[in-house]
Amino acid sequence: MASIHSISQSQLFSKKPQFISTQKTSIFPITTSFNPSNRFVLKSKKMVMAAAGTTAAAEEKSKKRYPGEGKGFVEEMRFVAMKLHTKDQSKEGEKEAQEKPLPKWEPTIDGYLKFLVDSKLVYDTLEKIVDKADFPEYAEFRNTGLERAESLEKDLAWFKEQGHSIPEPSSPGLNYSAYVEELSKKDPQAFICHFYNTYFAHSAGGRMIGKKVAKEVLNGKELEFYKWDGDLSQLLQNVRDKLNVVAENWTREEKNHCLEETEKSFKFSGEILRLILS
Ligand code: HEM
Repeated sequence: MASIHSISQSQLFSKKPQFISTQKTSIFPITTSFNPSNRFVLKSKKMVMAAAGTTAAAEEKSKKRYPGEGKGFVEEMRFVAMKLHTKDQSKEGEKEAQEKPLPKWEPTIDGYLKFLVDSKLVYDTLEKIVDKADFPEYAEFRNTGLERAESLEKDLAWFKEQGHSIPEPSSPGLNYSAYVEELSKKDPQAFICHFYNTYFAHSAGGRMIGKKVAKEVLNGKELEFYKWDGDLSQLLQNVRDKLNVVAENWTREEKNHCLEETEKSFKFSGEILRLILS
C-alpha cells in the first residue's frame, strides 16, 4: 500500500504525475528515529566531567542536549516531529524520501471520503477523551477551538447532500481510535503526544493536503475541516502554552516517553492519510 507520509510538498504542488512508495516498513527509517536514551549516554559523559569538578557547567550542558527544551516542551515535541518529515515535506525534515516510487498521486473523492470519515472518528475519540478527562490535565484541552469533530460532521453532511454515500469507518481510523482510547486511560504522556501531533499536523501539512485534494477533485471547495473560528495561530499558541504548563510537572523520563511516542503518531496518521489514495 502507498505511504502518504512520503508525499512531498513538490508532489502536492506539481502538475506532473507524482509517485509514492508502496513500502510500508520504510516509512520510518532507523537512521532518523528519535532515541532519547542516546542522550543519557551523552549525559553520563558529562557526569564524568562533573566528577572532575565542573558539576554545574556539566549539568547545564547536559540539559541543553534536549533540542527545544529552552523554549518549552512543545518545542521538543515539534523538533522530534519535524525530523520525521522528509526533506521534501518540510525544510526541517530529515527523513530520506523513499526509494521505490510506485503508485501515482491520484486522489479520488471516494478515498478522500474514507479519509474524512476515519479522521472524524479519531477527532471524536480525542474530543471525548478530553471531555471525560480520566486524568485531570486532559481537562485543560477542552474547548480549545482546535476541535475538528463538528466541522467534519458538517462536511460529511455536505457530501451526503451532493449525493455521495458516506462509508463506515475503516481499519486505519478504528485502529487509531482504539489505540488512543486505551492509551488515554493509562498513559497520559503518550496520549498527549498523539493529541499534539494530530491537531498540529492538521493545521500544517494537513491543510496543504486538503487544498491540493480540493483543487483536484472538489472544484476547489473549501471544507469546514480546514476552517477555524478565530485566529488559528492564536488558538495554536494557546494550546502550546497549556501543553507547556502540563509538561512542567513531568519528569525527564516522562517527557522522553512522550517524545518516543511520536513515531507511532506518524504511523497511525500516515495510514489514515493514505486512504486518500485508496
Ligand atoms: C504528506 C504528509 C505531510 C506533509 C506534506 C507535512 C508537512 C508539514 C509542513 C510543511 C509543516 C510546517 C513546518 C513549519 O512550521 O514550517 C509541518 C508541520 C508539522 N507536522 Fe507535518 N506533514 C505531513 C505529515 C505529518 C504527520 C503524519 C504528522 C504527525 C502525525 C505531522 C506532524 C507535524 C507537526 C507536529 C508539525 C508542527 C506544527 C507546528 O509547529 O505548528 N506531519 N508538516
